[in-house]
Amino acid sequence: MRLLLASSEVHPYSKSGGLADMVAALAKALGRAGHEVGLVTPLYRGIRERFPQLQRLDYFLEVPLGERRVQCEVWTLQPSEGLTVYFIDRPEFYHRGGLYNEGGADYPDNAHRFIFLSKCVVHLARYLPLKPELVHVHDWQVGLVPLMILHQRWHEGWKDAPRTCLTIHNLAYQGNFSRAEYSLANLPLDYFNPDGAEFWGQLSCLKAAISYADLLTTVSPRYAREITTEEYGCGLDPALRARQESLVGILNGVDYDEWNTTDNPSLPFAYSVDRMAGKAANKAALQKELGLPVNPNAPLFGSITRLADQKGVDIQIGALEEMLAANLQFALLGSGSAEFERAYADLARRYPNKVAITLGYNQGLSHRIEAGSDFFLMPSRFEPCGLNQMYSQRYGTLPIVRVTGGLDDTVTDLTEDDSEANGIKFHEYSVRALAKAIRKALVLYETPALRTKMQQNAMRLDFSWKRTGESYLKAYREGLNSKR
Ligand code: ADP
Ligand code: GLC
Repeated sequence: MRLLLASSEVHPYSKSGGLADMVAALAKALGRAGHEVGLVTPLYRGIRERFPQLQRLDYFLEVPLGERRVQCEVWTLQPSEGLTVYFIDRPEFYHRGGLYNEGGADYPDNAHRFIFLSKCVVHLARYLPLKPELVHVHDWQVGLVPLMILHQRWHEGWKDAPRTCLTIHNLAYQGNFSRAEYSLANLPLDYFNPDGAEFWGQLSCLKAAISYADLLTTVSPRYAREITTEEYGCGLDPALRARQESLVGILNGVDYDEWNTTDNPSLPFAYSVDRMAGKAANKAALQKELGLPVNPNAPLFGSITRLADQKGVDIQIGALEEMLAANLQFALLGSGSAEFERAYADLARRYPNKVAITLGYNQGLSHRIEAGSDFFLMPSRFEPCGLNQMYSQRYGTLPIVRVTGGLDDTVTDLTEDDSEANGIKFHEYSVRALAKAIRKALVLYETPALRTKMQQNAMRLDFSWKRTGESYLKAYREGLNSKR
């Protein structure tokens, strides 16, 4: 199949969260399976310096953006078999300190930046020799692409225009802008209505994609069900219910080429399910690196997260306050809301021998926390899929998760199946329920036979991309038969 993917972040070029990991791994898996895959993403500041092998495409790209005409250069890279990445180079838009925001504030020209990106995707889909049969867009930043393609098919002579697929990675981020910014799309007002791109008087890039893509997917089966309900639908549940027959939940895979404990440049010690000594050595090394007492008997809880409401930061801080009198250690790597950063820094000041907080983004340390911890905390309020709990499982670090979205689909608790258990689950979104789950972990820590069994169960799980890639291909084939 000929496929063009588009995403505002792609690992290892740019990343704010799991979106980057997922898109990179999907594109790689599809290319390796023998498909012809293109992937469009912005050329953010520093990418060319970090990847000097990028090549400039001899290609003239200019699109209207409201009343302006805007040009860009396109750079390419073939990082793996069957895959070409197309980087959109427009320094005015993409050479910034952050991807979407800085100092807690969204860039005021995000509508320009990402409507422009969407237009470039459509242009490349139409004019590149690749001639994709299907264009697969991820999240709101490229959400106008399906509508733009449909419009060109209906009114601008693009008879063999490709079918489109939207993957929703997070319904909470919708790309809502003023009605005036809709004019940047250079589309007629016919589509600006409650069954199309309009959401309570505003432009919603995500809603436009929900309304016009041939096929809708999201990143776990449970989240696919949740988002059609008022509780999890973020106001878009009616639009999703209207498209329910086209919506499918496909659990993300893990790129085990990167996330493994046997051949990993970020880990000081290798280990595997049959040779666990290296895990204890990684724990000691992590305690040392973070300035915590090197103590094999102190259960170490890890957390790597965007410090956002979604991630359950408030109940995590509350539960830690309650539990830190016990014999345990806590290591966090995260960045985000200033208020949460302050709260954690305060916790570390009060418990210097138990709490280590690293603010910022650090890929290497994220692997070492996964490997060195005994338990991994993910008390999310909602979680479309979540990758860290699956990384934890492969690293023999038992995840403690709230029963929501992909967390529920990937973790098995003792109460569900005592022979297959591979983590600890709790239901209620509260400090009390999380503290209780942490207490269970402390008891488990003192029950080595059961803990070892659960670690083995976790490490033997297989969330590899082969299965996930095949599910996407099956969905694409259905999308190609769309009657729209
Ligand atoms: P989300 O995409 O909602 O943030 P996921 O669990 O799907 O949640 O993915 C998060 C990804 O981002 C993981 O690869 C995780 O290791 C990474 N990550 C999050 N925060 C940091 C950080 N501060 N430093 C390094 N990696 C981080
Ligand atoms: C989003 C979600 C997360 C998911 C990731 C990749 O960022 O918050 O749950 O794992 O996308 O699909």
